[in-house]
Amino acid sequence: MQQCRFRNPQAAKFSMLNLQTLKTPCLILDSERVRHNAERVSQIALNNNVRLRPHIKTHKCVEVARIATAKHTGAVTTSTLAEVWAFSKRGFSNFTYAVPIEPGKFAEAIEIVRSGIKLYLITDDVEIPATLNDPARAAGVILNVFLKVDCGYHRCGVEPNTKEALEIPKQIADASNLNFAGILTHAGHSYHAHSKEEIAEIARKERDVMVELAEKLRGLGIEVPVVSIGSTPTIHHIDHLKGVTEVRPGNYIFFDAFQATLGSCSFEDCALTVMAAVTHRDRERRKIIVDAGAIALSKDRGPVEFDSTCGYGRVLDLAGNDLWLRVESLSQEHGSFYVPDNKTFDKLIVGTRVRILANHSCLAAAQHTHFNVLENEKIVDKWEIHRGW
Ligand SMILES: Cc1ncc(COP(=O)(O)O)c(C=O)c1O
Repeated sequence: MQQCRFRNPQAAKFSMLNLQTLKTPCLILDSERVRHNAERVSQIALNNNVRLRPHIKTHKCVEVARIATAKHTGAVTTSTLAEVWAFSKRGFSNFTYAVPIEPGKFAEAIEIVRSGIKLYLITDDVEIPATLNDPARAAGVILNVFLKVDCGYHRCGVEPNTKEALEIPKQIADASNLNFAGILTHAGHSYHAHSKEEIAEIARKERDVMVELAEKLRGLGIEVPVVSIGSTPTIHHIDHLKGVTEVRPGNYIFFDAFQATLGSCSFEDCALTVMAAVTHRDRERRKIIVDAGAIALSKDRGPVEFDSTCGYGRVLDLAGNDLWLRVESLSQEHGSFYVPDNKTFDKLIVGTRVRILANHSCLAAAQHTHFNVLENEKIVDKWEIHRGW
């Protein structure tokens, strides 16, 4: 296992003073690592000549999205309509809302389009094209709609070899006020792969299933402008992207304990930690309690399939060095871990700050209102997180 630490231990001393002043629990975002992670995926997209439409659900933060989309079109993927509104007020104008659209959100989607924002919707339901077309026609707008395809994750999407996979695109293409945008999938099952080879296999299937379906639809005379794929594990293990036009990874911008354990990145790449303070120590039980509980970290169980001892996150010292401790249990505002070693236990007096590398950075970030931005080992800024639905 690799250690997490700052690149310059001397400079880290200054950041410790600086970090100490922040109220805990709070998020610490290493912007150097964010830029590094962004650059790697940006290059994958540029080298393969595909559009990069990063998923902003990981951070919900305009400043992070600007880093992720530098050198690209500025198009992003969103998980909520609240993200669309917030980002459109701050310079972004092209969004794919990558959760299947349902009738309760038709009016808001139409309002977004009427306000001049480019919005793509997704569906995997045979009823939706007709029911969505009616309000779009009444409002006098054209809505862009993707077919959501299941490439093996089985969360949602139509199976590529079913009649619905051909029928829904035709319905969208034929509707007076809908535009068939193309096909979109997400290989979320790559998170459960047991080896890099298995991730690479899922990545190839994610691509091949989509390229094949696009060809089938084109054979039926249906134009397929966009073939959109993407997840963080698969984008880092794909051999080529021929036939794909767009990729939508999200988590790669921060990574987390899950991705590092899975092999998508190294622990050195993980950009987000939750800073917490020791609030209680129990010498007899060798137990330390910190003020980052389930609300601050999220209760994601993490890579438990690969590392049964992963707990709810890795405990690092303030400089980012791995203390080789895991958060073992969580209640709302309490995180608890066992410290077998005397020397480490003695250092963790009440008030000591630690940093926790959470299992899932997207869920941890969404619990907070802002990132404290670490640059050259100092907190230099505060970036807002746009939450809500
Ligand atoms: C539809 C869709 N696209 C893209 C992504 C990005 O995946 P990842 O965070 O693994 O990069 C997700 C993540 O949940 C998703 O649901």
